[in-house]
Amino acid sequence: MSAILTIARLGAQGDGIADTPRGPVFVPFALPGERVNVALGAKKADLVSVLEASPRRVEPACRHFTVCGGCAMQHLDGDAYRDWKRGLLVEALRAKGIDVEVAPPVSCPPHSRRRAAFTARRTERAALLGFNAALSHRIVDIEECPVLVPQLAAALPLLRRLAGLIARTGDAFRLGVTHTASGLDVAAEGSGRLEGRARQAAIEFCIANGIARLSVDGEIVIEPRKPAVMVGAVAVSPPPGAFLQAVGEAEDAMAAAVAGHLARAKRVADLFAGIGTFALRLARDSEVHAVEGDAATLAALDRAHRFGAGLKKVTVEKRDLFVRPLTYKELDASFDGLVFDPPRAGAEAQARQIARSQVRFVAAVSCNPLTLARDLAILIDGGYVAKQVIPVDQFLWSPHLEAVALLEKPRKRR
Ligand SMILES: C[S@@+](CC[C@H](N)C(=O)[O-])C[C@H]1O[C@@H](n2cnc3c(N)ncnc32)[C@H](O)[C@@H]1O
Repeated sequence: MSAILTIARLGAQGDGIADTPRGPVFVPFALPGERVNVALGAKKADLVSVLEASPRRVEPACRHFTVCGGCAMQHLDGDAYRDWKRGLLVEALRAKGIDVEVAPPVSCPPHSRRRAAFTARRTERAALLGFNAALSHRIVDIEECPVLVPQLAAALPLLRRLAGLIARTGDAFRLGVTHTASGLDVAAEGSGRLEGRARQAAIEFCIANGIARLSVDGEIVIEPRKPAVMVGAVAVSPPPGAFLQAVGEAEDAMAAAVAGHLARAKRVADLFAGIGTFALRLARDSEVHAVEGDAATLAALDRAHRFGAGLKKVTVEKRDLFVRPLTYKELDASFDGLVFDPPRAGAEAQARQIARSQVRFVAAVSCNPLTLARDLAILIDGGYVAKQVIPVDQFLWSPHLEAVALLEKPRKRR
């Protein structure tokens, strides 16, 4: 059934929302103030045509926009887009009753994303490589992607051929690719067992095309050159599939905010430390204890630290911080500053321990405004004062947002 609707506002996923007598209707790719002709579905409406366009509507940057599920917001002009992004964080904090200054977002330009998780599948003729269509398992075979660094975008045809070589079934699989200083680091998951002639062909292809490493389900198939990622001035060689911030500029901005806030701390904990994104930078001025759940990732951090010139002492600890968070006693005994950067689920158990501690300077980094707000509320209940929250638009044109929150616990009066 078709209808003509007026869009009132944008939702958290970037959809335009029209208020109707039957409740809100979500219209992807429609903007506030627009009159749109839609085909009504059960939960969403499909945009058929824009009858009156918003002055904020702009030409999308990519030919695949609206078909590829990777981007939701290329049709909104820069200022309004940034307001919407910042609003996602403001709203998440407001919902938890948190009153804090939210800075303007740190922007990441197009062509800056060094890491992507593609979906690939072998077909009878060739292989598909791209991203899933929105809310679908259908692969959109992409020819361009203005989000990716040029080296990664230019490698799409090569990666498609590689995907065809390693696919051992007709099922879709994940191809994680990172542009590193020593070449592309390619990590396939779910492509099937790579053996015999297919394995040999993939190895020869990687060597001939300068690919730094190919791994399948965590096993290194070939590694002509160790993938190297610069963390500040320290070169780190991450294990296959290790977490890496998607955009180098975003990582630099987050690290600068964290380092600035922890500048007066002498002994710092980096919780959910990954390959040492924060630890290896903080170690220029402070002793750092890095805690991380993945052994191979932690080993990479440890190795990098040993080769990093002029760094202070860095100790490492493998620990499941969901199950066994650092207790407030451990925190109080050893640290006057800490940063924590958990996965999307947040760090509720760890936040409860930090809340009880007397660690003075705390920085919280998160890729999920909702769990960040929950964890900040726990810290604030424990006596921390939130000084500032900085949105970092690491996931350009998508509804995802990174943020750094800076907190301090006032000293107890004697
Ligand atoms: C968002 S990443 C941040 C990594 C690093 N701080 C960075 O910026 O690159 C989260 C990290 O937490 C680790 N992790 C996930 N669950 C964990 C757990 N239960 N205990 C400890 N570490 C965990 C992951 O391996 C990953 O390295």
